[in-house]
Amino acid sequence: MGKIIDGRAAAAEVCIEIKARVQAVCDKGVQPCLAVVLVGDNPASKAYVGMKEKKAAELGIKTVGHKLPAETTEEDLIALVKQMNDDPSIHGILVQLPLPKHISEDNVLLNISAAKDVDGLHPENAGMLLTGREGFIPCTPKGCVKLVESTGTEISGKNCVVIGRSNIVGKPAALLMLAKNATVTMCHSRTKNLAEYTRNADILISAVGVPNLVTADMIKPGAVVIDVAQCRVDGAWRGDVDFESALEVASHITPVPGGVGPMTIAMLMENTVEAAEKTLA
Ligand code: GUN
Repeated sequence: MGKIIDGRAAAAEVCIEIKARVQAVCDKGVQPCLAVVLVGDNPASKAYVGMKEKKAAELGIKTVGHKLPAETTEEDLIALVKQMNDDPSIHGILVQLPLPKHISEDNVLLNISAAKDVDGLHPENAGMLLTGREGFIPCTPKGCVKLVESTGTEISGKNCVVIGRSNIVGKPAALLMLAKNATVTMCHSRTKNLAEYTRNADILISAVGVPNLVTADMIKPGAVVIDVAQCRVDGAWRGDVDFESALEVASHITPVPGGVGPMTIAMLMENTVEAAEKTLA
């Protein structure tokens, strides 16, 4: 029987340090400030934004919320982003994704100042990660690494399989694990015989959004399993992994909810305080 990785507890521990860093920045006369932009009324996005704002308030980070109608034009959204880029009281800018279909996410992300891109989604920050330079790291994969490390598992030399190749999670997760000297395999929707790869994974990170994609027979005994997905099934939250059966095989596994989600929010707070610290340096 494996252990359940308590993401809420791990995030709470990380947040103690973040709160101290926020206080230190405030003591120098600057309150870290995160701008949060929500376009439209996607219920999941609304809930995520609410959780981010609540955690920021708990840690002493100011938030400036912009709730825009679904009909907002790309031009208007980019104008708002540019205005926030130029506002020295704002340290981090988060535009909640997904955006309505008529708005190009790529264009919007490209217009966020890389220095305020606490989501780590600007191509400049993605390039910094790719080339091993310092930049903002996307919150979810950064949190995944923290959760693996919270188990005491040594990453170097391990086989890590990442399922999913998104810019937000899969690709940066693979790069982060590579930077920690894991041997990384990326799988995705066109991968043939997924189980052949996953059965070899000492660390398995799944970020797809297909409930029960990963079943117990696909998991190497003793593996660390990080389930990034959050799917609504019959009114309950489910990840990609069949949690109950996987718990019998894995050494450690994240639950959904209460696994990756809280750590993702903590990493957003960490990136925001880092952005504020950099303005003082
Ligand atoms: N939607 C789902 N995950 C994320 C995230 O990490 N950042 C933003 N901006 N939107 C998201």
